[in-house]
Amino acid sequence: MSFLAASVSAKAVAEIGTGAGVSGLYLLRGMAPDGVLTSVDFEAEHQRLAREAFAAAGIAPQRFRLITGSALEVLPRLIDHGYDLVFVDGDKVEYGEYLDEALRLVRPGGVIVFDNALWHDRVADPAQRDPQTTAIRDLITRVRNEESLRSLLIPLGDGLLAVQVAG
Ligand SMILES: C[S@@+](CC[C@H](N)C(=O)[O-])C[C@H]1O[C@@H](n2cnc3c(N)ncnc32)[C@H](O)[C@@H]1O
Repeated sequence: MSFLAASVSAKAVAEIGTGAGVSGLYLLRGMAPDGVLTSVDFEAEHQRLAREAFAAAGIAPQRFRLITGSALEVLPRLIDHGYDLVFVDGDKVEYGEYLDEALRLVRPGGVIVFDNALWHDRVADPAQRDPQTTAIRDLITRVRNEESLRSLLIPLGDGLLAVQVAG
């Protein structure tokens, strides 16, 4: 995550799914020293833990903005093409809708990264047809077929799908 943030010299990152702040910490480490992470989660308690983790790591409070709310309600309020990188780790069933939002949020040449692209090896198994697996599989097919996007499936952890938008 730090590498990906650094590779686009990220000053502004949007994250869907703050959780307890693990991904946020690594994103912040790779971003410009004055870069700001905007992170959305509908669980205030998760964001409280993330705030604690950021403080414990010595991250200045002006470097992160935590917004409590449902991703599909909050994302439309974020600025068009205002982000160098969008990291997606929310509800897997909504990954297609997050791509629509992320394509509007990311700047030309910016990158969108989806966690859990392998979804516990279910995505590669055609017998698995549950809603989460199907949504991730459809997302991968869509970005692969879209000419304005370059994509890379990184088999680290549960899989990271990195998508670069045309510059
Ligand atoms: C896997 S955790 C995120 C972990 C975090 N990115 C990390 O690496 O530390 C997924 C998070 O997404 C949040 N979430 C799931 N669906 C959401 C939605 N529709 N809107 C906002 N947050 C959502 C959950 O509350 C949870 O905290």
